[in-house]
Amino acid sequence: MAVKGGKVIGYVQAGVCGSTAVVEDLAVGTEYQGKGVGEKLLRKELEALRRRNVRLVFAEVHYKCASAIPFYYKFGFRIVGFQQDYFGFGHDAIILKLEL
Ligand SMILES: CC(C)(COP(=O)(O)OP(=O)(O)OC[C@H]1O[C@@H](n2cnc3c(N)ncnc32)[C@H](O)[C@@H]1OP(=O)(O)O)[C@@H](O)C(=O)NCCC(=O)NCCS
Repeated sequence: MAVKGGKVIGYVQAGVCGSTAVVEDLAVGTEYQGKGVGEKLLRKELEALRRRNVRLVFAEVHYKCASAIPFYYKFGFRIVGFQQDYFGFGHDAIILKLEL
């Protein structure tokens, strides 16, 4: 979680199952985007996952958030597929994968 002046400005949430993790959510408040907050959050999360012996990380991005894909690519994530109706009917997900 990223906090500034007692206010939450960003957070990341990942679920772990054995050596695999899924980044379920990652968001930075609109007025704080583009300032390196998201990069810091995801870098720290990936470091924590590595320490927990996670070796494979997936990220599921809502199709409307596809503009965030280049952000994930900066960390080495690659698109491996999509899942129709993943977030509910009509809400498809783009699936990205990173080997740690
Ligand atoms: C995607 C998101 C988490 C990125 O966080 P951020 O704090 O804005 O990103 P940063 O400032 O840390 O950017 C890190 C790098 O990624 C790049 N980047 C970030 N968002 C990008 C975008 N939409 N398109 C292209 N590049 C992007 C930045 O240019 C930066 O690269 P640089 O260091 O070469 O300049 C944030 O924009 C967000 O919350 N978006 C809305 C929710 C969302 O789409 N979440 C992801 C899906 S779960």
